[in-house]
Amino acid sequence: MNEVKPIKMTPLEKAPEPDLGTEMIPVERYIDPAVMKQEMDKLWSKTWLLAGPACDVAEPGDYFVFEVGRESIIVSRAEDGELYGFFNVCRHRANQLKPEGCGHSSSFVCGFHKWEWNLDGSLKDVPEADDFPQGTPAEELGLVPVKVDTWGGFVWANMDLVAEPLMDYLGEIPAHLDAYEFEKMVLVYDETIEWDCNWKTSVDIFSETYHVRGVHPESEWVSDDIEVQVDLYGAHSRFIAPMYVPSVRVREGDALNPGLVEYLKSEGFPADDYKGGVSTLRRDVAAFKREQSKETGLDFSKLHDDQLTADFHYNIFPNVTFNLFGEQMWMFRHRPHPTDPDKMYFDRMVFNRVPEGEAGANTAAGAVDMFLELDEGNVEGRPEHQFYKYGERSSGLLLDQDASCLAGVQKGLHSKGCKGLWISHHERRIRNFHKTWETYLGA
Ligand SMILES: [Fe+2]
Repeated sequence: MNEVKPIKMTPLEKAPEPDLGTEMIPVERYIDPAVMKQEMDKLWSKTWLLAGPACDVAEPGDYFVFEVGRESIIVSRAEDGELYGFFNVCRHRANQLKPEGCGHSSSFVCGFHKWEWNLDGSLKDVPEADDFPQGTPAEELGLVPVKVDTWGGFVWANMDLVAEPLMDYLGEIPAHLDAYEFEKMVLVYDETIEWDCNWKTSVDIFSETYHVRGVHPESEWVSDDIEVQVDLYGAHSRFIAPMYVPSVRVREGDALNPGLVEYLKSEGFPADDYKGGVSTLRRDVAAFKREQSKETGLDFSKLHDDQLTADFHYNIFPNVTFNLFGEQMWMFRHRPHPTDPDKMYFDRMVFNRVPEGEAGANTAAGAVDMFLELDEGNVEGRPEHQFYKYGERSSGLLLDQDASCLAGVQKGLHSKGCKGLWISHHERRIRNFHKTWETYLGA
């Protein structure tokens, strides 16, 4: 029997600072189609990628399709209960077997000539098999496999069959994030937005809070963009941005500002009667949330007070960023466009913590957030995936602000006036990311 390891609390201590130098980050990697092709060959094909939520392949016959650049991968739960992954391409004439999305099927049948495979990727049937003089050997014509594994309520895939195990690749991340118990959370919102920028431009912006003053001026009243702890863990990284406290830039005295009061009220905190001030607020909000949890049934027992009153933000190389709160987790995935380095797909999944025993029931309260302005989360069942392009509709204030900024950045990256990116100490997660990116690209 497998020993169940006790869950450790998230380490809070500051990581040592590596010397990452001060060089400019070259601009070609954001705009050059040749670099985009290299990324496909050397990065996307070699790294563990978050493929999708494990809830989409909970039962035998469940499958989903995950696309990254020009590649498309099927993740499937077979009759034997095991997970399988393979390239989403027919071994006969290369047709894609399934469109993007999730579903349930007893086999995979190609719509072109009706070749058929079992859920584990083995060849099941070839119509008129006698008509192939070279034969149709099942041992040769199975769907081409990729590695798959699960951690944190997600399925991860790696196209490199000799890649290191997922847990080795994730390094410190599980020890940091197991305490959140993602696998007990419920998916309440799922969308993809086509943005007018390179996927790395998007990873970059979510790696720092230096842009808050320019892009998200409303946020400075409720969260601090200055006294932010940054930790670099090799490929991966995090920042801890305190909430329920105004930015150091606008902090005056101990009284709560109107923006903070409004935000507190939106979360049910009795701000009008609050006798304390900015200096005591985070402590008292954490206590309030723990008191409330006795009624709501949300289990915060494995989280520090800091985790209830700050944005714990993690980057998992290359393209996953998590914003973590006590009640909710946002998974942002930054996917490359198949052909255009000036476009990308921004995937946003929101997961709610639910009372113990309700995991999977999707009874979570709506994923309402002051900044994201999401619709009410689905009451029952998996939320339907939505797709739209930047500008077609709002993604909520914060993301609209980021997307608008990024479109301008991507235009600027093409200018002769752009000589490279001049990165500050505060923005060193960007530098850290690019060091790892360079290792994969051999740059
Ligand atoms: Fe932002």
